Amino acid sequence: MTLHDSKIDRGITATALRRDFGSLRAVDDVDLRVEGGAVFGFLGPNGAGKSTVVKMLTTILQPTAGQALVAGYDVRHQGHEVRSAIGVALQEVGLDTLMTARELLVLQARLFGASGAEAHRIAERLLVTVDLADVEAKKRVGEYSGGMKRRLDLALALVHDPLVLFLDEPTTGLDPVSRSAIWEEVRRLNRERDITVFLTTQYLEEADRLADRIAIIDRGRIVAEGTPRELKRQVGDEVVELQFGDASGAERAAGLLADLAPQRQVSGDEVRVYAAVAAELVPALVRRIDDAGLALRGLNVVQPTLDDVFLRLTGRHAETGGDGGDGDSIEVDPARTDGEDDGIEADSARTDGGVRP
Ligand SMILES: Nc1ncnc2c1ncn2[C@@H]1O[C@H](COP(=O)(O)OP(=O)(O)OP(=O)(O)O)[C@@H](O)[C@H]1O
Ligand SMILES: [Mg+2]
Repeated sequence: MTLHDSKIDRGITATALRRDFGSLRAVDDVDLRVEGGAVFGFLGPNGAGKSTVVKMLTTILQPTAGQALVAGYDVRHQGHEVRSAIGVALQEVGLDTLMTARELLVLQARLFGASGAEAHRIAERLLVTVDLADVEAKKRVGEYSGGMKRRLDLALALVHDPLVLFLDEPTTGLDPVSRSAIWEEVRRLNRERDITVFLTTQYLEEADRLADRIAIIDRGRIVAEGTPRELKRQVGDEVVELQFGDASGAERAAGLLADLAPQRQVSGDEVRVYAAVAAELVPALVRRIDDAGLALRGLNVVQPTLDDVFLRLTGRHAETGGDGGDGDSIEVDPARTDGEDDGIEADSARTDGGVRP
């Protein structure tokens, strides 16, 4: 395959892609378009349907309905062509623990039709690419750390020089150093070989750092799509964080501020208010809180993060690093956020109304 050939289709398109498991609709009419050569972040909480989409796009699972093209081939009817154009590193890996990384890479290359000598060359090159050459000489795969295993997954997915690379949560469970190493590798592959990368993640930072475009999936449906910047702007340009020291104070404040701050979230002892221009809103917020006799412990004005987008769209925090949730009680005011799915309510008319001295 010729690299950097613009005539080669490296894109992904899904149209009304659906997958039912019995009565559960795990993927609910998902539309996606990924440009060739892009890094696409597919973000969503546990059970949202990310892996199921990946499995359909990689021909591991048949769609219940809908269509998808990967590198120009139909996943339903051209499975063989799709598989020869893609590399896949799935979330659940079954590596043979008694083999070495080199043996696994050679085996994989032979399965894709390489000759013995060629398979060894490929293995050698990829061990260097993912920085496992030194480790490989000393350890069997069963003795690898999580980060080493994920790097090996990546190498295995690259054996046949794919046009499109699918990575299902490539860094989940890794420490920050291993995570950065994978990010660096993915970026380099994308840049140097123009590989399209479709990457699922629960980490907002990962999507923010790596992806040109992001889609957020929740309960099988796409709830947002755009560049990281566009998505952050959906929640407003600035966020006022108000800390109250305890959750009941935050709850009360959220109620008090309803008219001033139609876009707000309660998260633990904090109320987050989304605003077009925070400076215009802050005096009115503080006055209202003060008048009610509530003690404000802290106030910050920050830029919105993808977590704000995520929280607003799904009512939950994304995983932000550690395992499991962060234990916050999240409350999204349903009257204010549901049904207003244009996402840009922090219009000046509303906020200005509240700051008149
Ligand atoms: N083979 C299956 N049989 C039945 N239900 C399934 C199967 N695979 C997935 N599901 C269900 O489909 C839904 C979506 O699962 P999926 O694995 O796609 O989520 P995910 O977004 O990848 O989650 P995670 O972040 O935990 O990997 C879940 O409710 C899951 O329990
Ligand atoms: Mg998954």
